[in-house]
Amino acid sequence: MIPVITLDGPGGAGKGTISQIIAGRLGWHLLDSGALYRLTALAAERHGVAFDDEAALADVARQLDVAFLPGEENEPVRVMLEGEEVSKEIRTESCGNNASKVAALNAVRDALLQRQRDFKQAPGVVADGRDMGTVVFTEAPLKIYLTASAEERANRRVKQLQDKGIDVKFQAILSEIQTRDERDMNRAVAPLKPADDGITLDTTDMSIPEVVNHIIDLARERSLV
Ligand code: DC
Repeated sequence: MIPVITLDGPGGAGKGTISQIIAGRLGWHLLDSGALYRLTALAAERHGVAFDDEAALADVARQLDVAFLPGEENEPVRVMLEGEEVSKEIRTESCGNNASKVAALNAVRDALLQRQRDFKQAPGVVADGRDMGTVVFTEAPLKIYLTASAEERANRRVKQLQDKGIDVKFQAILSEIQTRDERDMNRAVAPLKPADDGITLDTTDMSIPEVVNHIIDLARERSLV
């Protein structure tokens, strides 16, 4: 049995950072499922596909020519679309918003399902997303729902952008986060919610190492590592 740890939760809860550290510590594969939705949105935009054309968007998702290349030591994974590096492009707010729109479409989610399941390879995979524990890897022996207050998530995002020299308004980021939460949680297909057999971790007052160690302890308790 190849073990899977799923990390679901709203945007800005720290899933990306935490998943990357845990996968690195355990030497496991990493599935950044949000990147696949972001890449679908970016490819659609580049190919002039409208964000309300479900069938055409599903085709884009099915034909997505992507690669996740390991970064240099301590560097994040390099994300490639059609042979070109798009690691930065897919992280913009506008790409995130478009991703949230395409992610609400059933045909797009179906088109990406097998691609996500294919990441389950020995010795294990850490899967980061919204429906990893509820839809994609229902069999996962450890399912985490990582959350934090919307204000804390907005604060983290503002700080992250400021560190990159980008000046942003807290209120604008907070309202984008709230709009995206609303769309991700209330969509008809695969809405964001904790798995029935999952563990919820509120990281509002937790540091990154605390969260990482807690999850690795849970994995040990389950003899996954
Ligand atoms: O985690 P992220 O911000 O990169 O995700 C981008 C968008 O994709 C987000 O609005 C939610 C959506 N998403 C999803 O619906 N299901 C997933 N498994 C991952 C992301």
